[in-house]
Amino acid sequence: MKARIAIIGCGIGNKHASGFKHITNGELVAMCDLNEARLKDSTGKFGCAGFANFEEMLDKTKPDGVMVCTPPYVRMPLIEQIAERGIAVFCEKPPAGEMATARAVKRALERHKVINSVGFMYRWMQAADHIKALIAGRPVVVCQITGIWEVLYWAINGHISSDYFYRDRAGGPLLEQGVHLIDVSRFVLGDEVARVHARGANIIHPLSDTFTTEETIQVSMQWRKGTLGSHVHCWTHHGHIFQVLCAGVDFALTLDLKDNRVFGMNNGQRVEQSFTDDYYVSELRGFCDAILRKDQKLIRGNYADSCHTLAVAATAMQSVDTGIDLPVPAW
Ligand SMILES: NC(=O)c1ccc[n+]([C@@H]2O[C@H](COP(=O)([O-])OP(=O)(O)OC[C@H]3O[C@@H](n4cnc5c(N)ncnc54)[C@H](O)[C@@H]3O)[C@@H](O)[C@H]2O)c1
Repeated sequence: MKARIAIIGCGIGNKHASGFKHITNGELVAMCDLNEARLKDSTGKFGCAGFANFEEMLDKTKPDGVMVCTPPYVRMPLIEQIAERGIAVFCEKPPAGEMATARAVKRALERHKVINSVGFMYRWMQAADHIKALIAGRPVVVCQITGIWEVLYWAINGHISSDYFYRDRAGGPLLEQGVHLIDVSRFVLGDEVARVHARGANIIHPLSDTFTTEETIQVSMQWRKGTLGSHVHCWTHHGHIFQVLCAGVDFALTLDLKDNRVFGMNNGQRVEQSFTDDYYVSELRGFCDAILRKDQKLIRGNYADSCHTLAVAATAMQSVDTGIDLPVPAW
């Protein structure tokens, strides 16, 4: 039996669509996009039905699950209507642009009791499981998160939307993308961030009316179990570093998200373990599995849990604006 899945949004939605050929428990039944050319291209490539209107898609194809891959500021009404019909929801990250919307989505999903998942795919990595197992039961004294990529140059070159220049649209480096690293760090540490103190910088692209996002954000973090560390997230370097370093008394191990590996030292032994899993596919298989077995526990990152991740990033952005060290609200 296969879960019948529809996708809204033909950007990252295409990446998910390409995963169906690698799974046996799900099939792509339809895609939806307001952009006619994009939709035609995607439905041609993936051989499924296409719709400009998502309600019509739901009515005509009656999917078991919908992957909502629109930007965060066009998600809430879609998710509410999908959940109202009792259909499982996969929501791309970040779970919302701000906490008020996240709260409303969380309540809608709880009200309708539908299977739900958020696109934090690094949780599904074998490398994340590996480092989590290696450090299990030992205090982590330092957690150092580094996210450096060239996202703003993609937007300058027109490869991605100009939304990325505006903090109130894409969210900026931390809320749009840093959430991936915050989320996988929460997963690996099995802990929550308690306090944040953050600042932002614009060395290459000064803030202006047409460029309202910080290009780099630095967050000092204190975790509930006492771990200290920071997260630097930068969008103006022509390279790619996505790493989480966890250090304890007798280990210093790095989860390398870019190269899908764990490296460092553990009890005096060198660790160098690479993986080849496609964690986008694992995430997709997991969503279909949870739908078929009607078991939310098969999902590694549900919507309610993802709100903890968003709360860290949203509070850090409040700290950027106020300069104040802030507690992260409990969820
Ligand atoms: N998990 C990942 O690795 C990953 C990677 C890239 C993007 N994302 C996330 O996915 C989301 C979308 O990003 P993107 O890069 O694909 O954006 P995008 O702008 O390239 O694509 C979004 C698509 O949604 C369509 N759309 C918007 N409103 C719609 C509506 N009401 N009905 C139908 N279609 C609609 C747009 O026409 C557009 O084609 C963002 O939140 C982003 O952070 C996640």
